[in-house]
Amino acid sequence: MLNNAESQDSGDLWIDWLLKGRHSEKNMRYMRHSQAQVESYADRVLQQAKLQQNYTMVDVGAGEGLVSFKAIDQIGPTLRVILTDISQPLLRHAEKLANERGIASQCTFLQCSAHQLQAIASESVDVVITRAALAYVEDKQTSFQEFFRILKPGGRISLGEPVFRDDAIMASVMRTLMESQVAAAGSPDPFTRLTHIWRSSQFPDTQQKIAENALTNYTERDFVQWAMACGFKDIHMELHIDIKPSFIDWDTFLEISPHPYAQSLQAIMNEKFTAEERLLFEQVMKPIIESDSSTSNYRVAYLSAQK
Ligand SMILES: C[S@@+](CC[C@H](N)C(=O)[O-])C[C@H]1O[C@@H](n2cnc3c(N)ncnc32)[C@H](O)[C@@H]1O
Repeated sequence: MLNNAESQDSGDLWIDWLLKGRHSEKNMRYMRHSQAQVESYADRVLQQAKLQQNYTMVDVGAGEGLVSFKAIDQIGPTLRVILTDISQPLLRHAEKLANERGIASQCTFLQCSAHQLQAIASESVDVVITRAALAYVEDKQTSFQEFFRILKPGGRISLGEPVFRDDAIMASVMRTLMESQVAAAGSPDPFTRLTHIWRSSQFPDTQQKIAENALTNYTERDFVQWAMACGFKDIHMELHIDIKPSFIDWDTFLEISPHPYAQSLQAIMNEKFTAEERLLFEQVMKPIIESDSSTSNYRVAYLSAQK
């Protein structure tokens, strides 16, 4: 499922999730909402980057180039952008988009992991940004050291990263609840058991698994510690937690997955539930998901700092 996320084949997995798995194309309202949400994160990261004319910016884990292309829109033809990613298919996709936009001459595409930026010379760039990429990197501390190394003195980092730890804690709560039901009654309540199967298929559900998993073994405070340890100054961290009314419908809820290493609920139900269990789970869960009190939870850690 999730362990050692970075070491898995991350080519097609990433392009599939980024272009399809994270939001459903069947529900256009939800898709627009989800895209607007992502755009707002990218805008916030760029705001803190404080880009200027003639700057060179590195976009770590650039994906389809969302943040890089926004940066070029903002600054214009004097901005140079180095888009890095571990996924070659995504880099090729971003290059195609850059060509279509007529900005390819401003972009360099580099396949590498965030913690291995050797192809970029020391003290050669003005800004390093990363948006929802560091979360997936095994060695975050070395990545920070690399960001520091490639930045010119006075250069800035700006990142906006999801914090998945709370989702894992929820999975571990479901495990504890199930175990307490087994201790009290000999077997768990069927709905609790199914909810635990769902949650633990997407996130680690024990303290040990949480600690071993790159997606969940950090908090926003670790970002601050790593930035301090490298020698960054003027470090600013903001944790944004937004609990918003959700208007997702059941079919969309079944289809999307919270990160590329997680199966969708539909896949989990098909693979791990019996036909009877699928029926029970849908009978209880669908009205909850489609009710007015249903919420979507967003947790994003924004860090900016200067070398
Ligand atoms: C959620 S996407 C975000 C893409 C882009 N930053 C954006 O804002 O749309 C995560 C990206 O991180 C990349 N990625 C995953 N692990 C990585 C690693 N170890 N080093 C560099 N990039 C990585 C993925 O290929 C993917 O493009």
